[in-house]
Amino acid sequence: SSAEDACAKLYELVQVLDYDAQLALLRAHPELGQSAARLAALTAESQHEQSAAGLTVLDAASRARLAAGNAAYMAKFGHPFIICARLNTSTGILAQLEARLHNTAQMELANALSQVIDIARLRVIDLLN
Ligand code: GUN
Repeated sequence: SSAEDACAKLYELVQVLDYDAQLALLRAHPELGQSAARLAALTAESQHEQSAAGLTVLDAASRARLAAGNAAYMAKFGHPFIICARLNTSTGILAQLEARLHNTAQMELANALSQVIDIARLRVIDLLN
């Protein structure tokens, strides 16, 4: 009956998926801050999310920090760094990425899944409008 209800249900469903299915869900998300050429290949929703956070207009130093952080995150956790881009600024995203790199895999699985639900909530709200 509402985006909140839909996302509460979605959150429950995601929690009871087995680990492989949770990982597959996380891996279905594109990396944040991709080059313009790769960004163009993403869905309209993804492009909108990335540009809303200012990730498409980063300076070279921030782009390099994001790329290094994304690579380190993927190497440590085996899934991309996921944060709800529309609820964050590029500065906040970089700070979160570097902070969350220190977490355990278990903490990051939980964080990433909860961010997926935030991303979904905003998409559902858009669909209902
Ligand atoms: N990857 C990490 N965060 C996001 C996001 O907010 N949207 C999309 N499409 N991909 C992401």
